[in-house]
Amino acid sequence: MRTPFVAGNWKMNKTIAEARELVSTMAPQLNALTGVERVLCPPFVALNEVSSLLKGTGLGLGAQNMHWEEKGAFTGEVSPAMVKELCGYVILGHSERRAYFGETDETVNRKLLAAQKFDLTPIVCVGETLEQYGSNRTREVVSSQTLLGLKGISPEFAPRIVVAYEPVWAIGTGKASSGANAQSVQGGVIRPALAELFGADAAQAIRILYGGSVTASNAAEFFSQPDIDGALVGGASLKVDEFVGIVTQAKSEKGV
Ligand code: PGA
Repeated sequence: MRTPFVAGNWKMNKTIAEARELVSTMAPQLNALTGVERVLCPPFVALNEVSSLLKGTGLGLGAQNMHWEEKGAFTGEVSPAMVKELCGYVILGHSERRAYFGETDETVNRKLLAAQKFDLTPIVCVGETLEQYGSNRTREVVSSQTLLGLKGISPEFAPRIVVAYEPVWAIGTGKASSGANAQSVQGGVIRPALAELFGADAAQAIRILYGGSVTASNAAEFFSQPDIDGALVGGASLKVDEFVGIVTQAKSEKGV
């Protein structure tokens, strides 16, 4: 059985002071919800502070991005070793990074290989744009993002990877996918692509999350699906009741 997984992607929100305030309220409530792997992904500058606040809890900490090189002249970038000092997880290839910062399947792949090398649990994002969705290209796009992004990963590391299916048209729009649509992509496209890469057993072990306008009220619709193992949550991860509500739904729908 796959351990359910819920991560909060704070994006470019919360100063250190605001992060402290949010985490001090949220962490004790989240900590009680055992059985679900729970991860907070604040901005880089708040990682150190949040890391201290999470000590002794069962909650994980993740970065929202990293560079693939180990060190050197890459102004403004953060290396895998720097992330590893504070975090166990890293989000890679989020659609906002692909759209605004030029990330491609190739750079996502380099970062993923770096995560493997530095023993970080990667949350790799895939998903089609509204235009691709409208022209019925979802299967082709998501399959190719998965196959290219995860290329060259060892079968031993593969089960550590978490994949997040995030249709771009559902992110931050309040227009979530239906549970059935997400299930059809996650169970019908992503898991078969993972099986092609790593074999059926490893593919069964990999968690596949849904992301895009997940809230406490629609979360159960996703978590009741067999190939939706959790959620990558943006906007709702900044609100204590919403995020705690989503983790609560994961716990009850998955029976953990
Ligand atoms: P959202 O973002 O929950 O605000 O739609 C999800 C994400 O981008 O990871």
